[in-house]
Amino acid sequence: MCFFFQKYGYTHLSAGELLRDERKNPDSQYGELIEKYIKDGKIVPVEITISLLRREMDQTMAANAQKNKFLIDGFPRNQDNLQGWNKTMDGKADVSFVLFFDCNNEICVERCLERGKSSGRSDDNRESLEKRIQTYLQSTKPIIDLYEEMGKVRKIDASKSVDEVFDEVVKIFDKEG
Ligand code: C5P
Ligand code: MG
Repeated sequence: MCFFFQKYGYTHLSAGELLRDERKNPDSQYGELIEKYIKDGKIVPVEITISLLRREMDQTMAANAQKNKFLIDGFPRNQDNLQGWNKTMDGKADVSFVLFFDCNNEICVERCLERGKSSGRSDDNRESLEKRIQTYLQSTKPIIDLYEEMGKVRKIDASKSVDEVFDEVVKIFDKEG
């Protein structure tokens, strides 16, 4: 995502990645809880996720006040995430648009199983993936629909090749800035 920072000035933050880092931290009181949620494909309570996101955003801006544009990956994933965001960020952050990488379940599962050969992720296995799909359908899709109603969703056909998906993403950023 370094490319995106250089070209468009966004700092990439992945909610899932921040949670996985927090889980690894032996001083964290949330490690076990996070692991359980991730393995079950469930969405971690927003208090934890938003505090990790805020810490990263605050640190980034404290180091360089001009770094105030963020590409937040994998968030909000459910109603709890959205409420937590609104409560914490209302009046502090504008959401310009939502990138929706649209891809059918079969391809997603195939890709994650392939990734699972080397990712070491406890949720890149068939059982967890089934649960993640259920969570997506029940909890995440309705949030995308809400942003769709606000005219904020930019949809990408993510079933295509890496290069094609990348080109589509670049086109959107060129337009939206
Ligand atoms: O986005 P990613 O695939 O990295 O997310 C992996 C897992 O991290 C999710 O299935 C979920 O358990 C957890 N997560 C979460 N809340 C988020 C993002 C990820 O609980 N907003
Ligand atoms: Mg991710």
